[in-house]
Amino acid sequence: MLSDKAKAEIRALQARYPVPRSALGPALYVAQREAGWLPPDVLAEVAAFFDLDVTEVGEFASFYHMYNTHRAPGRYHIELCTNVPCMLRGSGKLAETLRYRLGIEFGKTTPDGLFTLGEVECLGACATAPMFSCTEKGTGKIRFFEELDTPEKVDAALALIASGHGFDTCERWPLGPFRHGGKPETNFLLARVDKPDSHKIETYLADGGYETAKATIVGGVGAIPQRSPQQVIDEMKAANVRGRGGAGFPAGQKWSFLPAGKYPRYLVVNADESEPGTFKDRMIMEYDPHQLVEGIILTCYAIESERAFIYVRGEYYFAAERLEGAIAEAKARGFLGQNVFGSGKKLEVVVHRGAGAYECGEETAQLTSLEGYRGHPRLKPPFPAVEGLYARPTIVNNVETIANVPHVLRRGADWYKQWGTPQSTGFRVFCLSGQVKYPGLYELPHGTSLRELIYDFGGGLTEDAGELKAVIPGGLSVQLLDPSQLDTPLDYENVAKQGSALGSAAVIVIGANQSLVEVARRTLAFYREESCGKCTPCREGAPWLEAILERIEHGAGRVDDIALMLYLADMIGGKSFCPFGYAAVWGLQSNLAKFGSEFDAAIAAAKDLPVIPVRPTYRPDPGVPSGVTEPSLPMEERYNAPTVKR
Ligand code: FES
Repeated sequence: MLSDKAKAEIRALQARYPVPRSALGPALYVAQREAGWLPPDVLAEVAAFFDLDVTEVGEFASFYHMYNTHRAPGRYHIELCTNVPCMLRGSGKLAETLRYRLGIEFGKTTPDGLFTLGEVECLGACATAPMFSCTEKGTGKIRFFEELDTPEKVDAALALIASGHGFDTCERWPLGPFRHGGKPETNFLLARVDKPDSHKIETYLADGGYETAKATIVGGVGAIPQRSPQQVIDEMKAANVRGRGGAGFPAGQKWSFLPAGKYPRYLVVNADESEPGTFKDRMIMEYDPHQLVEGIILTCYAIESERAFIYVRGEYYFAAERLEGAIAEAKARGFLGQNVFGSGKKLEVVVHRGAGAYECGEETAQLTSLEGYRGHPRLKPPFPAVEGLYARPTIVNNVETIANVPHVLRRGADWYKQWGTPQSTGFRVFCLSGQVKYPGLYELPHGTSLRELIYDFGGGLTEDAGELKAVIPGGLSVQLLDPSQLDTPLDYENVAKQGSALGSAAVIVIGANQSLVEVARRTLAFYREESCGKCTPCREGAPWLEAILERIEHGAGRVDDIALMLYLADMIGGKSFCPFGYAAVWGLQSNLAKFGSEFDAAIAAAKDLPVIPVRPTYRPDPGVPSGVTEPSLPMEERYNAPTVKR
C-alpha cells in the first residue's frame, strides 16, 4: 500500500501537467521509491490514480529501463557503463574488479541484499570513464562514481556506498574539477562551471545573469535592447544558431514555423542526452543551470509560450535536482511564475525525468513519452511545431541550443557570427572522449580541425593506445573517419563532405591497440538494447548484426558474414520510422568500408572451437538471440559457402 505521503505526491505531480497522464512516469518513480520495485499490485495502485488498466501501466513501465518491474534490486543498484567510450577507457577491467569484489555475476544480488550488479548504456560521463552509477533503494537517489581506473578507487567507492553515506550528496564522485577548456575568446557556455556555487542564482546574477531576459522583455537594462518576440526570432535567425542535439536545424527558423494565432504553445527542452560520447548538456545543467533557465525564459517569450518542460534523462538525477533548485530560485525572484519580470507574462517550467530510453531523445518519441506513453516516434509531418505536445504547437530544442540564446541576444547576431563558418556559425562545446590524454569538454569555434581538437587540446593519444586508428566525430551514431581525415574542419558541412556527421559534436578517439570488430559489436549491442521495438528492421536487425559480430569477434566468423552484414545494414538504414535505423548501421557500414581488412582477418583466423564470451554479457531480456553458440562450418566449406546477394 502506498503511504498517504506518496499518494499526495502523485496528486501534486498530476497537477503539474495540463494532462494528468503525463505524470504517469513520475508517479512510478514515487511508487518505486516506496515499494522498492514495481510488482503488479503496486502498478495497480498507480493505475488507479490515472484511471488506467494495470496492464496499460505495466506496458508503459516495462518499456523503460529504470523501472524495476521484474524483481527488486538490492539496496544499492550498481550499473556499470560498458558503452564504447567507457570500453576504450577500461570498463572491462572495472567489470572484472566489481565482479571479484562483490562476488557476484552481472544481473545478480549479493546474498546480504546490499548490492545488485548490472550494466547500463552511456551515462554522459565518457571523459571521466570508467564509471558506474548507483541507485539507492528507498530514496531513488542516483549518484555517478567516475574515474574508477584503479582497484583502490573502486574499493573506496564501494566502501563509501556501504557506509550509508554515499548519498549524502549526489554530486559526481570523486569531487574535483571536470576537465574542460577551449579558446578563452569563445568560453561562454562553460565560463562559470568551475566557480564555487556555480549553480546558485547569486553566482549567476553577479555575472550579469538574467539581465538579458529582463532587458529583452521589459527593457531598461544597460545597452541590451528591448525586443518584441518577432525581433528575438529574427535575431536568432540572423545568428543562425543550429540545433546542438544532432540534426543541426537552425533554431530561429524552427521557431518561425509555429502557426500564427494557435495557442497554447509549448517549449520542450530536450535534455535526454543519451547519444554515446555526449556529455555537454549534463555539465550545463549540473553546474550552470540558470544559464539554461534564462534561455528558456527568452525562448518562451519569443514563441509566446507560457509553459516549458525540461525532459531530462532519468539517470541525470543530480542534474534534475540542480534544475529544480534553479527554477525555485528564479521563481522566488519573480523571473518565472505569474508575472515574469513584472511584465504580466506567465511562465511555468516543469522538470520531467525520463526513465532510461535512448529513443526518447528523438523529438516525437520524447513528446509521446512526455504525454505518458511508451517512447515511440510519430510520423512527420505534422512536425511538432505544428502539432506537438498534446497536439499543440511545440518547439523542441536541445539544452545547449537554448543556453546559447542569452549570449546571442546580449551581444547580437554579428558578434556570434564572428566565429565559426558562414553556415556553421558560432562556437560549440565538443565532447572529447576515448583514447586521448585529456578527454573533456572543449568550447571552440565551429571549423576547428579534428587534428587540433585531438592533439592540441586533447594532448594526443594515450601511451597504450598507439597511433590513431579511427575517430567517430559526432556521437556513436555517425560514420567513422580514418587518420587521413584528421584535417577535417569540425563543422556541419565539412564533416558531411567526409562522409560522416557532426551530430552532437561527440568526438570518440580510437587507437591502434583497439579492435574495430569489438567497437562494431559493442555499437550494435547498444542499438539492440535501445531499439524502441516499433519497427521490425531495427528491432530484429540490430540483434542479428550483433550476433554476427559476436561470432566473428569470438573466432567463429563465416566467410559470407561481411556480405550478410552489408545486406542487413542496407535493410535497416532508412527503413524505420525514425532515424534510429540509420544510426544503428552507419557506424558499421563505414567501419566495414574503411577497416574491412580487420574483419576479414578475424574471419580468416576463425577456429572451429566452442565459443565462450570473454566479457560479461548480462542481458536483462531473456530471449535476445545470441550467435555465439551457433555451429560454424569447417574452413574450406566456409570459403565455398554461397555469399548473400545484395
Ligand atoms: Fe560510458 Fe559515456 S559514460 S560511454
